[in-house]
Formats: sequence, C-alpha cells, structure tokens
Amino acid sequence: MRSPLSDLSHLLVISGLLAICCVTAQETGVPAGTFDLYVLAEGWAPEWCLTQGKGSAECTSIKPGSFAATHFTLHGLWPQYNDTTAAARQPYRFPQFCGGFASCSRRSQKKLPHCRAPADVKSRFQHLWQRIAPAYSATLNVSGGFIDHEYARHGSCSGLSAVAYFALMARAFFLSDTPKLVRQHIGREVSVAAIQNAYGGPNMVAMSCRGPVLSQIETCWTKVTGADVDTSSLFDAAAVDETFGSSMRRMACPENVLRDLHYDDSCEKYDKVLIDRMPLTMPTDDSDNSTAGVAILA
Ligand SMILES: *[C@@H]1O[C@H](CO)[C@@H](O)[C@H](O)[C@H]1NC(C)=O
Ligand SMILES: *[C@@H]1O[C@H](CO)[C@@H](O)[C@H](O)[C@H]1NC(C)=O
Ligand SMILES: *[C@@H]1O[C@H](CO)[C@@H](O)[C@H](O)[C@H]1NC(C)=O
Repeated sequence: MRSPLSDLSHLLVISGLLAICCVTAQETGVPAGTFDLYVLAEGWAPEWCLTQGKGSAECTSIKPGSFAATHFTLHGLWPQYNDTTAAARQPYRFPQFCGGFASCSRRSQKKLPHCRAPADVKSRFQHLWQRIAPAYSATLNVSGGFIDHEYARHGSCSGLSAVAYFALMARAFFLSDTPKLVRQHIGREVSVAAIQNAYGGPNMVAMSCRGPVLSQIETCWTKVTGADVDTSSLFDAAAVDETFGSSMRRMACPENVLRDLHYDDSCEKYDKVLIDRMPLTMPTDDSDNSTAGVAILA
C-alpha cells in the first residue's frame, strides 16, 4: 500500500540519489573562455590497442614502428580550472560542453550537426591526425566520432575558432614531445620517478595507468587566447607562435589535475610501469569492431 508519506520518502530517496549522482555531473553551458589553463592529454596507443581499442579502426591503422606506435599520440587539449577556481566551482574541475554546446553532453544529442567539429577543419588537418592522432583520423567521418566529441566537450570551452583550437592543440603536442626515456623503454619497465623527472618533476606530469601499464600522460600549459585569426598557415609553428604569442608554456599542474582520480596519477602506486609495445600483428576483435576506439571518449 502506498501512502503520501511513503511517496514523500521515495522522493527524498530519489533526490538523495540525484545529489550523489550529480557530484560527478558535467558542468555544461559555461561561457566559452572561462578557464585558467590547458591540460594536454596524450595516450600511449599500444596500451589502448592491446586492451579496449583492440581491433578498432584506429588500432588497425597504426603500423608497428610508425610514429603513433613509438610516441604518445594526441588525445586532446582541455581547458581546465586552477585550484582556486576549482574550489570555488566545486565539484567541477573543468568546464565542458560550453555555450551553445551544452545540449551535446546528452547521449541523444551527440550526433547532431551542431555538436560536430566543422568538416573542413577536420579534413584539412587529416594528414596530421593520421600521424599524431589516429583516434581522430580513424573516426573522422563518423558522426559523433572522437574528434567531434573532443571539440564539443573541450574545444567549445576554449573561446577559439575551431581551426585555431586544433592548431593550438597540435602546437602544444609538438612542444610536448615524447621523452627519449620513454621511447628507449618500449616493451620494458621504467621507473615512475624517472618518467616524472623527464618532464621536470612529479608536479609537471600526471600519469595514468591500467594496472602497472602506462596508458596516458597529462601535462599543463598556460592559457593563451586569440581572437579568430587568419589561419591559412596555422600549422606552421612560427605562425602559431605569432598568433598566440610564444606564451604557451608548460607549467606545474594544479592539484586538481594531479589528483583527478578518473585520469591521473594512477601510476604513482607503482615503482615501475610497463611501456607496451605495438604487436607486429594486431589482434582483432570482431565482436566490437564498429565502436571500439570511440568508447573511451573522455
Ligand atoms: C587562478 O586563476 C584566477 C583567475 O581566473 C587567479 O585570480 C588566481 O590567482 C589563480 N590561482 C592560482 C592558484 O593560480
Ligand atoms: C572522409 O570523407 C571525405 C569526404 O567525403 C573523404 O575524402 C575522406 O577520405 C574520408 N576519410 C575517412 C578517414 O574516411
Ligand atoms: C563488424 O564485423 C562483422 C562480423 O565480422 C561484420 O559483419 C561487420 O560488417 C563489421 N562492421 C564493421 C563496421 O566493420
């Protein structure tokens, strides 16, 4: 038998659950440009391709010995709050799906045209994505694919035009460069402290692991802004410097980046981590061939 009281307690339980659920909810619809620094996320593709990404278009496109098999590859450039702002905006650590992209956070909306990165910008840089961002190139024409997701979720918050945003992302990526130490230890274990030192110390990089295996690193970069600019030669590093000033610099990461449980510093509990090697023949997984590689959508 239902009573008004049990309906009320039911409601309270539901609102209690909502309160719990939304501590981890996404902060959407924030005005573009509201952030303090950038986080550059770079993945270790061999690790991804041996686990969740197995058999995906992304992973079958990566040849052993290629750049993507031997360097970190581009995941994304994420506007982020510093610790002061994050404390004031609790529980949010970074803005997402900014301005007109607020509705794109909903599953049902993700494939709508206004939730995608502009097609001309995507294809213009495709030659570059094939080399440094196979997760982008492999799903370039898939509606709501990885590059669309990164643009809607993170790029929309940059306050930059799409072409300027992706150019800045590529610039940060090339400034970052995979440490020689990592490239020299492919297929072997290396100490976590040594990798941190290669980046300048434990607060200069956040490292994510799946078990004792390195999967991603994140570095922090100063916020640069730029109005819509003539982007005809933006992939020339000098032109990007001129456009954004040479002010984009790596900086120590705030605590809220270093302590982000979802992505970061899960390597710190290990002394050493394995740097996976891309297998000569990639295993395939036909059961999940169409969506693998899009699944991680961060
Ligand atoms: C965080 O950014 C705000 C501006 O958005 C600034 O006033 C503040 O000093 C910064 N705090 C830290 C710890 O960097
Ligand atoms: C995406 O579509 C464009 C235009 O139709 C085409 O030229 C390109 O090859 C496609 N790219 C991929 C990766 O399928
Ligand atoms: C996925 O694999 C199944 C069975 O091998 C095949 O029929 C289907 O066409 C594949 N889909 C894609 C997108 O490759």
